Amino acid sequence: MELTAALFNRRTSNGPFLPGPVSREHQHLLMSVAAAAPSHFNSQPWRFVLVEDPQTIRDVADLSGRSMTELIERGVFFERYRRYFRFTAQEMNERRDGIFIDHLPKPLRPFTRQVFSDAGLKLMRQLGVPARLGEENRRLVAGSPLLLAALLDKAEYRPGELSGFYSVFGLGAAVGNIWNTVGSLGLGIQFISTPMELPENWRAMQEIFKVPPHLELMAVYRLGHLPEAETRPAIDWSSRHRKKISQYVFREDCTQPEQD
Ligand SMILES: Cc1cc2nc3c(=O)[nH]c(=O)nc-3n(C[C@H](O)[C@H](O)[C@H](O)COP(=O)(O)O)c2cc1C
Repeated sequence: MELTAALFNRRTSNGPFLPGPVSREHQHLLMSVAAAAPSHFNSQPWRFVLVEDPQTIRDVADLSGRSMTELIERGVFFERYRRYFRFTAQEMNERRDGIFIDHLPKPLRPFTRQVFSDAGLKLMRQLGVPARLGEENRRLVAGSPLLLAALLDKAEYRPGELSGFYSVFGLGAAVGNIWNTVGSLGLGIQFISTPMELPENWRAMQEIFKVPPHLELMAVYRLGHLPEAETRPAIDWSSRHRKKISQYVFREDCTQPEQD
């Protein structure tokens, strides 16, 4: 029962963490639950870097904030991800996936519907929204006591081959275990994904972590203790909505949706 409750209570943390450190004991527990995940032929292709050094965290934070500003400024973000955003409760309730835009930065709220258009983008630039979102992102990362880089061993991670798929699948299971455990330790976790969106910035991230040629950097996360009351950030990427069973499960073959 405890495990099921933890699974249903897991959520993405988008707000600030408390400044206090994550104990070594908890860090190692998270690494052990990651390694408890299944992997093809027990290959355990995952590798992790635990980062507490304040200068490294500042460097990642700067890169993340700059990437966010650039993505919004150039319109790349909204062009790439427009299809995941929902604008009405009705749309959200029907599709039950994606993110409901109910928490835009204050100056933009009257323009909710235009935010993904060229005019909306222009307005956002005029209002200095890209820089503001970048700074908010930088601060969130800079204020995190622990970063976690997830990597794969390239001996197993060979994109285009089955072992490439298996490795990604295994790493997903390992990170899933971490994600499902943090809550019981009073911790939160969030992807630091903006540098991944810009190849030159992702290369810079690899340099920060001194990634050797035989490893591939797959993802970076920030972790820390959660404050009592979480405040939502300017754009909240998280959503509790889930599809109904009939929207993603079939019975016997792909022609028969399962009944709810
Ligand atoms: C592959 C993947 C990439 C994600 N990227 C981000 C991200 O860049 N930033 C973020 O805050 N959340 C990210 N998320 C979290 C999702 O937005 C989140 O899981 C989803 O909105 C559901 O919310 P929940 O995790 O709180 O249930 C990602 C999740 C996955 C599995």
